[in-house]
Amino acid sequence: MNTSLIILAAGKGTRMNSDLPKVLHPIAGDPMLIHAMAAGATLEPIHTVVVAGHGAEEVTKAAIAYDEEATVVVQAEQLGTGHAVAQARDALKDFEGTAIVLYGDTPFVSPETLANMMQAAQSTDVVVLGFEAADAGRYGRLVMEGTSLERIVEFKDASEAERAITLCNSGVIACNAALLFDLIDAVGNDNASGEYYLTDIIGLARARGLSATAVTCDEAETLGVNSRAQLAEAEAAFQSRARATLMEDGVTLQAPDTVFLARDTVIGRDTLVEPNVFFGAGVTVESGAHIRAFSHLEGCHVSRGAVIGPYARLRPGAELAENTRVGNFVEIKNATVSEGAKVNHLSYVGDAFVGAHANIGAGTITCNYDGVMKHHTHIGAHSFIGSNTMLVAPVSVGDGAMTGSGSVITSDVEPDALALARAPQVEKPGMARKLMDKLKAQKARQQRSS
Ligand code: UD1
Ligand code: CA
Repeated sequence: MNTSLIILAAGKGTRMNSDLPKVLHPIAGDPMLIHAMAAGATLEPIHTVVVAGHGAEEVTKAAIAYDEEATVVVQAEQLGTGHAVAQARDALKDFEGTAIVLYGDTPFVSPETLANMMQAAQSTDVVVLGFEAADAGRYGRLVMEGTSLERIVEFKDASEAERAITLCNSGVIACNAALLFDLIDAVGNDNASGEYYLTDIIGLARARGLSATAVTCDEAETLGVNSRAQLAEAEAAFQSRARATLMEDGVTLQAPDTVFLARDTVIGRDTLVEPNVFFGAGVTVESGAHIRAFSHLEGCHVSRGAVIGPYARLRPGAELAENTRVGNFVEIKNATVSEGAKVNHLSYVGDAFVGAHANIGAGTITCNYDGVMKHHTHIGAHSFIGSNTMLVAPVSVGDGAMTGSGSVITSDVEPDALALARAPQVEKPGMARKLMDKLKAQKARQQRSS
């Protein structure tokens, strides 16, 4: 079945008390809008239309960064959810199929639930996603007759009897696109809020003899974010689900509550993650790796058998091959570390290639930035970089070469050569003793005269 997404993201989110549009507040490293887009993307939509309003420019940037084919339409005035959906009409004018309406501030609707809705939409004209609310609060109420959804009544407009209904509207709707826009045309704003309610299309459809029903999901999926407190709840809910999923998938988390994951974190089976590890966006860790305590990873790939940390920092573009070692207080950025290479202590390796089985001594730094531009460092296979070597990029150290400790390497080193670039050692016999005696005598004189 052809599908298109309409994602409502125009609202201001007043209760967030923020300059950032609500839908761009991050959960697990990505704007909540992206969570909604990613869930929708599992339906392989033909079009994804994001309805932006407040902060439209920033919302557009984020939407396009995730899906460059997404269309963003602007709802200049927020006149209600029905009016918001109507803004997608032009973008979908040539589309034939089912439109699914999602909210950008409701990040956790699952792909399975969306698939259930698509399934139901094959035999029913309008399908609404409902949930049994623990506290129905101000949600719209679903008025059912058997399996038929008769109408949705907004809390503000509901009678006492209707307010007693606990089956609530999540906001997600599936409907043939042409029919959806046709029904919305008939929606007015004569209600308690003076808004064009998307929810009115149910009653309108039933009045025309069309069918409507509700698919239900767990309340956790419909969690909406309206405040910073709810944002924190959403983050916590995401983290506990993601940790549980990883453990089911065979990853050991020694202290799950202290490990933070991103929306897109991938970790292979039998990898061991010690306490207090942070995964930013874009991390893939293969099976059988070991991430030791207090490491921070983002935008990187860690291969099988690698041991990272404790206290390692892997930044975007860090590509670690099999059986590599990256130890404490080591930062790797935009650099490939080839199989079996070791960077064990106190180093910065950025914009670099480290060949297989190279050994990078403690305190080594690739001096990649000249204040204006970034430059590349090549470190050959089986090379040995002495402790505290400064590699002033652009520079290359050949395969099997060595650098002496404390060297400042400014020109290329040939394969198998030893490069020394430091002041030669000078030794003055007896000088230390003489100097000490002189200083002690000086101190004694000062004490006598004071
Ligand atoms: C809406 C539903 C309600 C449901 C609830 C679930 C309607 C009339 N009511 O109520 O039945 O229980 O969601 O959370 O649909 N938006 C726009 N443009 C607008 C108005 C809203 O883009 O003009 C977006 C908002 O940014 C938000 C979403 O639509 O993402 C829902 O809007 P909101 O005002 O929060 O609707 P509710 O009153 O919560
Ligand atoms: Ca809301």
